[in-house]
Amino acid sequence: MLRAVQITDTHLYADPGRQYYDVNTDETLKRVLARIAAEEGNADLVLLTGDLVHDESEQGYARLRGYLEKLDLPVYCLPGNHDDGGLMRRVMSGGRLSCEGWVCRNGWQIILLDSTVPGEVGGRVGEAELRRLDACLRARPGLHALVCLHHPPQPSGCAWLDEGLILDNPDELFAVVEAHANARAMLWGHIHQAFDREYRGLRLMGSPSTMLQFKPGAAEFAIDDADPGYRWLHLHEDGRVESGIVRVGEAAAPAYNMGP
Ligand SMILES: [Fe+2]
Repeated sequence: MLRAVQITDTHLYADPGRQYYDVNTDETLKRVLARIAAEEGNADLVLLTGDLVHDESEQGYARLRGYLEKLDLPVYCLPGNHDDGGLMRRVMSGGRLSCEGWVCRNGWQIILLDSTVPGEVGGRVGEAELRRLDACLRARPGLHALVCLHHPPQPSGCAWLDEGLILDNPDELFAVVEAHANARAMLWGHIHQAFDREYRGLRLMGSPSTMLQFKPGAAEFAIDDADPGYRWLHLHEDGRVESGIVRVGEAAAPAYNMGP
């Protein structure tokens, strides 16, 4: 079995004291990481699915890297619309961190796609990424596959997101995925809320942010009072996917040991 933890939409700033609405994004991330350190110690790897830094700052990535290194797990990153992809790849690579977009372990391959479009909030999986995905799935028919990206290829249920701010070409993405019998699941960020659905034999999952949550089903932008969280995934050797969300409220927060 491959045990993975998904952390998404961390939205750190250059200034660790800055807030998104009334949320200090460093504080909520550290709270989530403390819970992961306490409860997911047997995880094989961590997946970061975009919007790692809110203001494209090197300081934000550097602090994120420091926080993640305390987990002492392999970390695989892909960019979201708020990220500077080049800066992310430079700071979040090396040691136990990777932005290479692919990992293979325990009978599974995980393909991490870049769905960002420069200057746009919405996303698109471009030709090169579609070809890379197709090649990965074709090259290893004996491995189950999990496909990760930032933007949802299905409506979130929030009209303000679904009208132009999600993935622009879901049909092209699904056409590649469905051409191969080994793809089992897709996983994304961006929506700051939980999503879990079966669709044409695939398990589709979206996840809460480590900071502020968007209100499910809202027609216009609205903040939800749900706690920050993360997703765990157990990817079994027979292709089964078990997964769930863990929310981390303020009261239950152990301190995140940042070391000396
Ligand atoms: Fe986000």
